[in-house]
Amino acid sequence: MNDRAQSGNNLDPWFHHYAERAAGLRASEVRALFAVASRPEVVSLAGGMPFVSALPRDLIQGAMDDVMRTEGPVALQYGSGQGVPKLREQILEVMALEGIRANADDVVVTTGSQHALELVSKLFLDPGDIVISEGPSYVTAMVIFRSYQADIDHVPMDEHGLIPEALREHIARLKAAGRTIKFLYTIPSFHNPAGVTLSWERRVEILQIARDNDILVLEDNPYGLLYFDQPAPDAMRSVEEDGVIYLGTFSKTLAPGFRTGWALAPHAIREKLVLANEAAVLSPSSFSQLVISKYLETADWKGQIDTFRGVYRERKEAMLSALGEYLPELTWTNPNGGFYVWLTLPEPLDSKAMLPRAVKELVAYTPGTAFYGDGGGHQNIRLSFCYPTPEQIRLGIRRLSNVLRGELELLDTFAGTGSLTSVRNSTRFSLPPTDLN
Ligand SMILES: Cc1ncc(COP(=O)(O)O)c(C=O)c1O
Repeated sequence: MNDRAQSGNNLDPWFHHYAERAAGLRASEVRALFAVASRPEVVSLAGGMPFVSALPRDLIQGAMDDVMRTEGPVALQYGSGQGVPKLREQILEVMALEGIRANADDVVVTTGSQHALELVSKLFLDPGDIVISEGPSYVTAMVIFRSYQADIDHVPMDEHGLIPEALREHIARLKAAGRTIKFLYTIPSFHNPAGVTLSWERRVEILQIARDNDILVLEDNPYGLLYFDQPAPDAMRSVEEDGVIYLGTFSKTLAPGFRTGWALAPHAIREKLVLANEAAVLSPSSFSQLVISKYLETADWKGQIDTFRGVYRERKEAMLSALGEYLPELTWTNPNGGFYVWLTLPEPLDSKAMLPRAVKELVAYTPGTAFYGDGGGHQNIRLSFCYPTPEQIRLGIRRLSNVLRGELELLDTFAGTGSLTSVRNSTRFSLPPTDLN
């Protein structure tokens, strides 16, 4: 028994038996609300589900039939722990779109990039180690880091992504405190949840900082190809081969149901990753890999990515125009790709406290607190535009504006703070910095 494992449920007869690392695996406080939020009358701006209805299902069906007909016994069998060689070659073509030149020997296919995050954490993290990440950061990566009992140190961003100067300061402070920094976890393109993109100059500078300080970079890039106007700058891995583990996935450019992603690792690490992959799953799904490989070979997969880009661009525009109309007093990021807008609330409002009211008003969002390991984010909301239609998005934002006004009226009753506009203009409740807008 140990203290960290105490945060469980006393009705569980095995409560005192869990390993310490299990203490990091806690259901989020907003999970119960999300069960309610999945009802059809609720507009959910909360999840990150790709709009798979835009996929050519007949082509995917054709690829599946083909695989079963021509390679059935292989598709139904265990495979290599590193992944199907042909798919690993095709993955090189996908990564080449973001400037990466690599060898298929260094690609390890995983069960989604989520599993690659797990494997990298398993290889590198000891209890008490530090993972540096952007603040905010991807919630389920942080769940993994914490489950390996690492501490997360958040470095702030602005509209150009992670701030190099702040990174330098954080590294110096952590080193002075005798902490061990294992890696920098970063989502440079169309960040989840912040929606911002790391500029090219900063990519190069941050890689140099990592090199100078002997810190591995874990570049997580699920959204890079889903840009709206301008492509994102080339991947960080295109600059630096030895110090970067790059993670990619077919979840957003094809479908998450295949649960297929990959890690491109420096040669030395690759060996250990394959062993970790084998220990965890023996081999990633042969069936999924072969179907994806066939799809890449026979379908216009780049054209399909263009289709997705068009769908998401339209939805982002619907969201920003609804925000401009219904909540002009607030600030938000304007993503040039990906799935998410990051909204900043005026100070007396608390996104987590407000969520029950929102669900009652039939709109759901993810409170910013989910994306910080240190209790931050109360003034932020992540809004997803990937799944709901433009009409639903508009309706959702209109409902959200009612929620905010209702909440402010309540606060007003107790504190006399007034309307949204007067909150913005008051000196007592000044707006937070708009650096992410
Ligand atoms: C930043 C980031 N990393 C990793 C993942 C996991 O993706 P998958 O395991 O489906 O490849 C997601 C999913 O939303 C994500 O947003």
